[in-house]
Amino acid sequence: MAPSLDDRLDVLVEEVPKMGKEAALAAIKEWGQPISKITHLIFTTNSGADCPGADSRLVHLLGLSPNVNRIMLYYQGCHAGASTLRLAKDIAENNRGARILIVTSENILHAFRGPDEAHADFLLSQALFSDGGAAVIVGADPDLEVERPLFEIISARETLILNTMEELGMQLREVGNLIFLSPTIPKHISANIEGCLLEAFKPLGITDWNSIFWVSHPGGPAILNQVEAKLKLNKDKLMLSRKVLSEYGNLSSPTVLFILDKLRKESLKEGKSTTGDGLEYGVLLGFGPGLSIETIVLRSVPI
Ligand SMILES: CC(C)(COP(=O)(O)OP(=O)(O)OC[C@H]1O[C@@H](n2cnc3c(N)ncnc32)[C@H](O)[C@@H]1OP(=O)(O)O)[C@@H](O)C(=O)NCCC(=O)NCCS
Repeated sequence: MAPSLDDRLDVLVEEVPKMGKEAALAAIKEWGQPISKITHLIFTTNSGADCPGADSRLVHLLGLSPNVNRIMLYYQGCHAGASTLRLAKDIAENNRGARILIVTSENILHAFRGPDEAHADFLLSQALFSDGGAAVIVGADPDLEVERPLFEIISARETLILNTMEELGMQLREVGNLIFLSPTIPKHISANIEGCLLEAFKPLGITDWNSIFWVSHPGGPAILNQVEAKLKLNKDKLMLSRKVLSEYGNLSSPTVLFILDKLRKESLKEGKSTTGDGLEYGVLLGFGPGLSIETIVLRSVPI
């Protein structure tokens, strides 16, 4: 518990945008368009808080246009990956021709510390959380001559579960980042999840949660177990969330993008008719401090 924030931040200032760069380059390569067509950059991380920040550094590292419109989301928690999609949808629909590069990059160095008898959750968070980066490009009205959409964002909404501010959070202190996690988080999320889904899927008339594909932030196995039980989901619905959690850990903000990537790749490999496991509609869920639930309705595309 010795003060060490300065040293940690010095590492993160360099490393977070560097990992973001690798993720961005992979996304831009698959998109196949010139980097000069990127009009907006949304960068999110919980790892650091400098200004100018990871977004500005990434502009230099990638050689993005100096006119790129930047949005930096620092220190929002795990649901920020889904929040970036919500923001990108609004930007894309309000700026003709916009191509928004979303970059998420997390490095758990800020929270790394020795065990403490009085704080089981400090140890738990280190066992659960891990490092990772992901990137995706969002736009409206794709140019189908040269662009190949993977999913359509139909709607996006965030819900704050009131009176749960003490359940989950982070405190940036001289000792580093203190992550606190209450054992009752899974109960709060499972109690509120169906309300979020009903509201989000009302315009589509969907109430059968087994008829859609699932991209759920895992949080931890207890969250997946309780959501699965509450909604009577078939075992395959949260399988990719469990797989990403088991292979990579809880990556915080990039986790949902890792699951989305696996979903479209496995759908292709298994000969499914759409990028969403052969289904048309699906949900992407983000969970984080607040407690917050991000509910994004997605539509797959034919493969
Ligand atoms: C932490 C977790 C992985 C442990 O899973 P598990 O090994 O299957 O065991 P359990 O859930 O039964 O919990 C085991 C013990 O850890 C304790 N525990 C669980 N969560 C805890 C927490 N957040 N803080 C302190 N103790 C916790 C339980 O109370 C239990 O204690 P007991 O043995 O004295 O009764 C699981 O509870 C989980 O997924 N929790 C959700 C994590 C989370 O909130 N993530 C949000 C990030 S977005």
